Amino acid sequence: MTSSEGAFARALVTGAGGFIGHHLISYLTYRGYRVRGVDLKEPEFEPTRADEFVVGDLRDAKVADEVTRDIDEVYHLAADMGGIGYITSNHASIVRNDTLINVNTIHAAHENGASRLLYSSSACVYPQYKQLEADVTPLREEDAWPADPEEGYGLEKLYMEKICQYYREDLGLDTRVVRFHNVYGPLGTYEGGKEKAPAALCRKIAGIEDGGEIEVWGDGKQTRSFLYIEDCVEGIHRLMRSDHVDPLNLGSDRLVTVDDLIEIISGAAGKRVEKRYDTSKPQGVRGRNSDNTRLRAALGWEPSISLEDGLARTYEWIAGELAVREAPAAVG
Ligand SMILES: NC(=O)c1ccc[n+]([C@@H]2O[C@H](COP(=O)([O-])OP(=O)(O)OC[C@H]3O[C@@H](n4cnc5c(N)ncnc54)[C@H](O)[C@@H]3O)[C@@H](O)[C@H]2O)c1
Repeated sequence: MTSSEGAFARALVTGAGGFIGHHLISYLTYRGYRVRGVDLKEPEFEPTRADEFVVGDLRDAKVADEVTRDIDEVYHLAADMGGIGYITSNHASIVRNDTLINVNTIHAAHENGASRLLYSSSACVYPQYKQLEADVTPLREEDAWPADPEEGYGLEKLYMEKICQYYREDLGLDTRVVRFHNVYGPLGTYEGGKEKAPAALCRKIAGIEDGGEIEVWGDGKQTRSFLYIEDCVEGIHRLMRSDHVDPLNLGSDRLVTVDDLIEIISGAAGKRVEKRYDTSKPQGVRGRNSDNTRLRAALGWEPSISLEDGLARTYEWIAGELAVREAPAAVG
């Protein structure tokens, strides 16, 4: 084992109180890393497994400087982000917050001598003109340019990808860039406006009786691919250990409609579901899928957990959370 692997490596995970960051910390500590986490908040649903957890704001350069001291590798996941409703109605605050978080973090990592930084980008960097049809051609990494990304959030992600490249080329900070495609799973936000489609649909289906009705954003025909959280954290770690420096998709390449998602979740729930479509709600691009050709070539690996399996585990967790909350408090 080298000093950059396992037991002796000191890793910083930013966004450690968030969905992917929390799971990643569990994965890294299990593999012997010494992990420091930083976030505005502690994880919502279970305690962190980080060796050290700093509650701090990375928009403040002093916080970024403090948390990157004595660190070998930075897994940079912190971001102001949410589901489609949130990212389409908060452009100004998202770009301000994410620009400060990103520039402070990469600069402090470089100044404090970290050897490597992985940046979590997004499928939202891909051009809107390539995502107009539901039956979309899977997106290859090189399709990101010429650019026409998702307003606000996607544009800022694309810009930060370039900042990673410049810090690597000019300043020698070894960077990795991963583009996630719709990550889902247990311990993710499922209400409050920042939740994504799989969690929102699990919550809605958990809340109805057999044969009940749920509201669906859009006409149900928009398409996406979905990546289960366990595949996500394994892919992150494999990319960090690889020599691949250019942006890399990390997603599933199984394209499904929102209606398909509902059918799979209702199957897991054992409920029949009536759908009421609301096409006035934001839907994002019409179709989006991940081309995994480069992922397979770069990592010799690809995600393998099926949507049926992942959604069943996610539904079970969300339904369990709601049931605990609704159970009458014990008397005495
Ligand atoms: N989940 C997905 O499907 C998905 C898809 C594409 C990209 N991503 C990217 O992956 C990363 C992690 O996503 P996630 O799903 O875990 O999101 P998340 O919202 O659960 O986690 C992000 C965390 O960053 C923290 N944060 C926000 N502002 C901060 C600040 N100023 N200082 C410190 N911490 C701050 C938040 O409190 C939150 O806990 C993000 O960069 C996101 O843009 C996620």
